[in-house]
Amino acid sequence: MKEIVVSGIRPTGKLHLGNYFGAFKNFLTLQEQFDSYFFIADYHSLTTHPTPGDLRGSVKRVLAEYIALGLDPEKCTVYLQSDLPETAELYLFLNMNAYLGELERVTSFKEKVRSQPDNINAGLLTYPVLMAADILIHRGIKVPVGKDQEQHLEMARTFGNRFNRLYNVEIFPEPQAFSPSNVLVKVPGLTGGGKMSKSAGEADSIYLDEPADSLKKKIMKAVSDSGPAEPGSPKSAAVQNLFDLMGLVCAPDVISFFDEEHQKGSIRYGDLKKQLAQDMETFVAPLRDAINHTLANDKQLDEIAAFGAEKARKSAKKTMDAVRDAIGFKPKFEN
Ligand code: TYM
Repeated sequence: MKEIVVSGIRPTGKLHLGNYFGAFKNFLTLQEQFDSYFFIADYHSLTTHPTPGDLRGSVKRVLAEYIALGLDPEKCTVYLQSDLPETAELYLFLNMNAYLGELERVTSFKEKVRSQPDNINAGLLTYPVLMAADILIHRGIKVPVGKDQEQHLEMARTFGNRFNRLYNVEIFPEPQAFSPSNVLVKVPGLTGGGKMSKSAGEADSIYLDEPADSLKKKIMKAVSDSGPAEPGSPKSAAVQNLFDLMGLVCAPDVISFFDEEHQKGSIRYGDLKKQLAQDMETFVAPLRDAINHTLANDKQLDEIAAFGAEKARKSAKKTMDAVRDAIGFKPKFEN
């Protein structure tokens, strides 16, 4: 049997370079070889309380992006999380054996407590449980994600193993975060902080449909430093970020050239940024066109979602029949 791949992206805005190089690029290769499930994590996005209109718009956008960027609904299963309510049922069961202490220690939860003290809802606390349900419902093993999801994967293994042990079954395998190099990717943002992130503001991210003029402006304004203090000085974190971004889209000889210039202490960041902007535009332009084209095709998107929902339900049903049986829910009392 083929190994099962599962991953999802929250519909909280447009996809950016971090989503692409951290996760999506691997969706494209994995769909060719494995039994793959790629969904739009719309339940997860409810922690931020979107309006129904905004939610619908964002889900449609991510679905269009999935297709425009190369997911093939014939090769993999593309679906909306909310079209698979069995996920919510598994989440309920897993929640019974997820403990407050371990959930409160999750880094992403602690970050939210700090950044949005007025909206620390139970959905945020149990976010890793819902994510575990997403993966375990298809008995996923390979989970292509970026570095920021590593801890959530560890929890998915914990919750799956705990269920198996509690009911003395072997329903759930151990899912692992997947990256072809085995090193999970972290794409930096443009504003000098950590990873590229929607919540760090517009200037931090380059979207996959970023218009040419704003793409150039954002890169030219990216944080750097005042130049190497002397030849051989190490790169500052902000400058390393720029080199990391070059690593995604620039040719190796271009990167070596700027590396040497930095070594010599004669680097001109303006030139580096111009080159980065040019190579980034070459990368983004075809994606932008494809996304805009797919977004205009509502009927096709509806058909894709319906087709994917049916395939996802088939896979989920098998798991949930075993899960309900293990717990002791019986459809009939007579043997
Ligand atoms: P989300 O929507 O925040 O991000 C989607 C994917 O993009 C990756 N990513 C990055 N990778 C590298 N560098 C970055 N700057 C960067 N920013 C985002 C994320 O690691 C992720 O792979 N919890 C998930 C969604 C989810 C899920 C799942 C994923 C829900 N259920 C089950 C896998 C399996 C999330 O919030 O991703």
